[in-house]
Amino acid sequence: MLDYYRFAGPLIRLLSAEAAHNLSVAILKTGLVPPQPRADDPALKIALWGREFPNPIGLAAGYDKNAEVPDALLAQGFGFVEIGTVTPEPQPGNPKPRLFRLVEDKAVINRMGFNNDGMQRVAGRLARRRCAGTVGVNLGKNKTTEDAAADYEKGARVLGPLSDYLVINVSSPNTPGLRALQGRAALEDLVGRVRRVLSELPVSPPLLLKIAPDLTDQDQRDIVDVALAAGLDGLVVTNTTIARPGELRSANKAETGGLSGPPLFDPSTRMLGDIHRLTGGRLPLIGVGGVTTGAQAYAKIRAGASLVQLYTALIYHGTAQVTRIKRDLAALLRRDGFRKLSDAVGADHASVG
Ligand SMILES: Cc1cc2nc3c(=O)[nH]c(=O)nc-3n(C[C@H](O)[C@H](O)[C@H](O)COP(=O)(O)O)c2cc1C
Repeated sequence: MLDYYRFAGPLIRLLSAEAAHNLSVAILKTGLVPPQPRADDPALKIALWGREFPNPIGLAAGYDKNAEVPDALLAQGFGFVEIGTVTPEPQPGNPKPRLFRLVEDKAVINRMGFNNDGMQRVAGRLARRRCAGTVGVNLGKNKTTEDAAADYEKGARVLGPLSDYLVINVSSPNTPGLRALQGRAALEDLVGRVRRVLSELPVSPPLLLKIAPDLTDQDQRDIVDVALAAGLDGLVVTNTTIARPGELRSANKAETGGLSGPPLFDPSTRMLGDIHRLTGGRLPLIGVGGVTTGAQAYAKIRAGASLVQLYTALIYHGTAQVTRIKRDLAALLRRDGFRKLSDAVGADHASVG
């Protein structure tokens, strides 16, 4: 297998982080990147929401914000891809620079601010897709919209019919007021309104909510109550953190924005476990935050994730890392006697009792 990133990676890192990102999307768009081996180990299969995932390792939101390359990403071995965040109207996001590498920590801080092409252009691209893999759509609000729920309703109406699952993103730290939508009353209203829109569609996709790692215990209990009462189909745990956990070594640690990558692994996995416990395993969870290795993907699954996502690991290791993660995850499942992935979901809680 050609690991083009081993050769191109050092060159790509000479560019600013955002220019490197744009270049990597442009390279994928050419269609010239050789696909990774497709045949996934059967032990990695998992069925959820009536669909089969060939493996549980997905690309997190924020890489392909505009649905430019979902199929090329699936061909790189991801089990699913989440595009977005998409807002109703196009918007430029925050002034540059707004994406910072923390090289010594293998982490990233971003304050992109939902730069995206808007839902109509993204809808056009999704409608032209020809491949079958699972693509979820992550919805947000425009910076200047006052009735936030109205933006999510618009997104659900236009992009719901084109998505395999929808995510209400109320957890990005770079849109003023957004995370306040995680409060009980605002969330009940928001989820109820989006649910009503989806109920009017001929086919309604599963609806998930993506939450921040910086929530109090009470916030978490409220979210789980609302999620169960409103019949949400899952939670994505977590987005980037506004905290600066651990001993960050990079000078860029002082930048404003959301931190992702290895320093986020422990807090986001702890929250994943807490949410799994609070839901009693009744809600499918997507575990995201700091996953770089197969062992870390496995830890997310044992903590309660049915699916796992990553983004920052891609910045430092390229898409070949997905193949390594899948290989190591399959070996770990076998080592511990799990014949299928679903048996390992939440295993840490079962052993604790
Ligand atoms: C540059 C960048 C942009 C992101 N944009 C979004 C976004 O638009 N919407 C979203 O829900 N999450 C976004 N995220 C968060 C990721 O989806 C993910 O939750 C987070 O980075 C933690 O995973 P990781 O440690 O594997 O990167 C972004 C992350 C990064 C690094």
